[in-house]
Amino acid sequence: MLRKLSCIIFVSYTLLFNSCKLEDDDKAKISIGFSQSVSNDNWRISMNHAMEVEAALHPEVKLTIYNANRQAKKQIDDIEKFIADKVDVIIVSPFESDSIIPVIEKANAIGIPVIIVDRKVNTSNYTAYLGADNVEVGRIAGRHIVSLSKGNANVIEIKGASYTSPGLERTMGFRQIIDQYPGVKVISIDAKKDELPKDVFVNILKNAPEINYVYAYNDVIAYQAWKAAKGENAKNKIKIIGVDGVNGPNGGIQLVKDRILEATVLYPTGGSEAIKLALKIANKEIVPKNNKLNTTLIDSLNADIMGNQFDKITIQQSDIEQQQA
Ligand code: FRU
Repeated sequence: MLRKLSCIIFVSYTLLFNSCKLEDDDKAKISIGFSQSVSNDNWRISMNHAMEVEAALHPEVKLTIYNANRQAKKQIDDIEKFIADKVDVIIVSPFESDSIIPVIEKANAIGIPVIIVDRKVNTSNYTAYLGADNVEVGRIAGRHIVSLSKGNANVIEIKGASYTSPGLERTMGFRQIIDQYPGVKVISIDAKKDELPKDVFVNILKNAPEINYVYAYNDVIAYQAWKAAKGENAKNKIKIIGVDGVNGPNGGIQLVKDRILEATVLYPTGGSEAIKLALKIANKEIVPKNNKLNTTLIDSLNADIMGNQFDKITIQQSDIEQQQA
């Protein structure tokens, strides 16, 4: 008797469970695949999180994130998987601008919409691009150094990788401004894999004329430069400007508040905007090919305000997450 009863309970439980599962699958009418390229820094973590929060607001969305961990080949394989799974929209935050061209074009050719976020790809065969203007990012940093130094300074520029569009464009914009001021002398060095070339950097600090400013490709490198300069007892003389302005502990906004960085240039991740754009595309709305995110300078004058604004958004997001849970 007892056996029969437990059997009935088991069968009804299985039926109940399966019917819930069916309902969930049924609700997920829009499948979005996101191929992330780099996994371990604040900026990327905050991008993924923004996507997950935005996706959670739309019960009809099923978001899958694959992480390529800086491997161009893995990113191509991840996008191939999304194609094989026939997802409704693919969002790609490219690692390199060239190697993924064929797989992006493949998705596009078979009619899967592709949204490119942040780094550009050297093809126009995709549906939409979303990101801030990296040339403008470089110009903002350049103008800030010119205005603080009144056109007379020695600067170390730590450049990002040249196989990425932000790496190239942040330098280009910076040069457009700085080159107009002969009193601003720049020594450029390359950062590989988002790492400060510490020996080269320290060597310049030791041997070059007094350095007044550092312009770093991102806040991670800017912070590394601060630590290296501190070791050389040069930290108080050098003003460091980074890029990204992520909110939260160890993010660029906090580094500005702590006076570790003189300033950072906000480079929004576009996580939630990418999901919104994917939804529009999945619902057959016409969207612009180019979707620009805003950028601005964050320094000691506005770091608190910016931080508070972002904190409010984070609180709202976690309220929403709790409600969803
Ligand atoms: C993070 C990052 C950011 C930068 C972006 C550019 O992986 O290096 O710091 O703004 O990628 O692609």
